[in-house]
Amino acid sequence: MTRQSPKDSEELPDTAPPAANDYIAAAPRISVQAFCVTEDTAAAVQSAGEDRRLGKTHLTVKMGGMGGAVDAYHNAPTPNVIVIESEGQGDILAGLDELASVCDPGTRVILVGSENDEVPYRELVRRGVNDYVIGPVSPLDVVRSICSLFSASEAITVGRVIAVAGAKGGVGASTIAHNVAWAIARNLKLDSVVIDLDLAFGTASLDYNQDPMQGIANAVFQPDRPDSAFIDRLLAKCTDHLSLLAAPATLDRVYDFGANAFDAIFDTLRMTTPCIVLDVPHQWSAWTRRALEGADDILIVAEPDLANLRNAKNMLNALKTSRPNDRAPLYCLNQVGMPKRPEIDRRSFAKTLESQPAAVIPFDSRLFGTAANNGQMIAEISANHRTSMMFLEIAQRLTGLGETRKKKSSLLAPIINKLKPRSARA
Ligand SMILES: Nc1ncnc2c1ncn2[C@@H]1O[C@H](COP(=O)(O)OP(=O)(O)O)[C@@H](O)[C@H]1O
Ligand SMILES: [Mg+2]
Repeated sequence: MTRQSPKDSEELPDTAPPAANDYIAAAPRISVQAFCVTEDTAAAVQSAGEDRRLGKTHLTVKMGGMGGAVDAYHNAPTPNVIVIESEGQGDILAGLDELASVCDPGTRVILVGSENDEVPYRELVRRGVNDYVIGPVSPLDVVRSICSLFSASEAITVGRVIAVAGAKGGVGASTIAHNVAWAIARNLKLDSVVIDLDLAFGTASLDYNQDPMQGIANAVFQPDRPDSAFIDRLLAKCTDHLSLLAAPATLDRVYDFGANAFDAIFDTLRMTTPCIVLDVPHQWSAWTRRALEGADDILIVAEPDLANLRNAKNMLNALKTSRPNDRAPLYCLNQVGMPKRPEIDRRSFAKTLESQPAAVIPFDSRLFGTAANNGQMIAEISANHRTSMMFLEIAQRLTGLGETRKKKSSLLAPIINKLKPRSARA
């Protein structure tokens, strides 16, 4: 229960945000067959098949390399994508020619080569190889390669989904989700939609000062697959770049859903909206877990107490296990420094959760209370407030956009810090 010290941030390595251009869009419902040579590649492809971005693809892994593929397709139709490992397979170009003679047109080929390959890339392209990856490959290399075949060719926006959830109820997860989304739209100029998934009690329409609408309820309860035009009509426009799919916040029905209830809505929105922020209520059900697991990035919000620490640890563990090829979820501490409350310090959180918080947001009942009661964002009340800056920093970390990388702390940093006026110290 010690007070946090500025040195804490130097103790643990920070998780680096992904570059904005390293975003991998999920592949559509396609079939993929891999013909591997080495066990390592087979294992990498197999585990790629379990990645969320290949959740819709049908993937089979066989051994036998090029020869195996040629044999297999002599009398079987070819899938959408063939992955072939060329290691020790002799003349690669001759093999590809033979493969071409048994392949259906339209089938795409990914070649997993080795550093010793001596084939010019242009000869591979000429023979219809769509992507060439030099082994040894990681599961993520395979995911990236397969997904890239589809995302680049289809001229559709593939929005990035950011899920925000609390380690307990009432920690401020929704408040943070709304303020971060506002910063993404306002400062990073990314067209964004907030989806309030707390159908019974959600406050997004209050926070953005919007008239209550059925929003997400209309989308999820309608029997047909929603299209973009339908969802567009359900959106409430909050600012230039920000819209809201609001929760009805009425209790005339109950809100139990199957795991996949929101999939079609998210997929439809992704086609038109670069950034989708999910305000996920604090519960662990089939559909909330799926919303978190399927997101491109996750932010867990915790208050500095023991129950939050335990829950955050469990959430991070569960999500890291089910998303082995993704950046670990980020977390932030909120309502820190509430008067008279004993707190678990940031250092203990960082140790237990094995990463630094993306932000440590002070408790400020006047600021947050004013915002909540007026239907305003924190930055609308005070644009230069330290807390507004934190929301922008979280927005940047989550999107990988507009980030000024933190300067590496030098040996002199503590001394330089001491020379600064007290108020300006890190
Ligand atoms: N840093 C903070 N300081 C003071 N009050 C806060 C802070 N963050 C959130 N709140 C307040 O806490 C309450 C619960 O927030 P909410 O976002 O609804 O939590 P959750 O979605 O986690 O249940 C709201 O009244 C909100 O204004
Ligand atoms: Mg909430």
